[in-house]
Amino acid sequence: MTTPVNVTVTGAAGQIGYALLFRIASGAMLGPDTPVRLRLLEIPQAVRAAEGTAMELDDCAFPLLAGIDIHDEPAAGFAGTNIALLVGARPRGPGMERADLLEANGGIFGPQGKAINDGAADDVRVLVVGNPANTNALIAAAHAPDVPAARFTAMTRLDHNRALSQVSAKAGVPVADIRRLAIWGNHSATQYPDLFHAEVGGSPGGALTADAGWLTEDFIPTVAKRGAAIIDARGASSAASAANAAIDHTRDWVLGTPEGDWTSAGVVSKGEYGVPEGLVCSFPVTSSGGEWQVVEGLEIDDFSRERIDASVAELSAERDAVRELGLV
Ligand code: NAI
Repeated sequence: MTTPVNVTVTGAAGQIGYALLFRIASGAMLGPDTPVRLRLLEIPQAVRAAEGTAMELDDCAFPLLAGIDIHDEPAAGFAGTNIALLVGARPRGPGMERADLLEANGGIFGPQGKAINDGAADDVRVLVVGNPANTNALIAAAHAPDVPAARFTAMTRLDHNRALSQVSAKAGVPVADIRRLAIWGNHSATQYPDLFHAEVGGSPGGALTADAGWLTEDFIPTVAKRGAAIIDARGASSAASAANAAIDHTRDWVLGTPEGDWTSAGVVSKGEYGVPEGLVCSFPVTSSGGEWQVVEGLEIDDFSRERIDASVAELSAERDAVRELGLV
């Protein structure tokens, strides 16, 4: 049998963890030929709940699941890990200022980045899901100087999938026939879902943008504020769709994106499209050979430029804030 891939999931006892672990163990993330060993990393108070989830995983008798370990300490949780899905984060509490939120998350993602640096496998790949995802990824990467920065990514795939679904409904075209959408910027309400380079049912996505009212009043805000709409309807934040996006992101990273298409991911900027170097920013990306590449050479018109710049300005402000706190 092939050597199992070690996958660490933080926040394993949370909502997303519950929707994620079973799909990883089923083979949805790494394919039907790759066994996985799951490492569940939680805070001590949630270890008991993680044990319950592990019992259920056992009870599924997944043929690809080679083992489950539960940890409440990052060094052990990340030792030898190949894929780290950083889901657990500190949510914004009532009356919490942004600086308090960033500081609280710095206390989580700094030590986790260090533990990844010190003990993870040489090929480790990290996806940060826990919010604020882009800046948490920046903090983790800053604590892992021996790991290439490109191995730290933040999840904007849920935004990408939400955009696909909105376009599908508007155009009456199956999602499978929509290609080359892109999410730019921060995983926040400032993100910019870009249709201008898309192909929708074989026609240029630009045709849909001719309906300016739909584009600016409906499509862009619906995608950007979908998380809040889910909370309003469900009484809890997106979990299964977030877990699904984490599966999609990691699968494409490891196994590659389809020919002729691209997806969206928060990756460390090398200065592409004028995004300051070092920011973890969502771009249109392809993957091959286990590496993300930013799609280069796209023409960005004034409409898109203004929106990309606004989201990138927010990312820069978050970076300045965590710098001031000494977290990066
Ligand atoms: P949840 O509150 O149900 O679960 C979070 C879990 O993380 C809890 O079990 C908690 O004990 C654990 N945790 C907290 N600190 C930890 C630490 N230091 N180490 C290990 N585990 C720790 O939250 P849920 O719904 O699972 O969401 C998790 C995160 O994902 C949130 O930050 C949420 O905002 C974010 N999210 C991101 C999305 C994206 O598109 N990037 C989409 C949806 C959610």
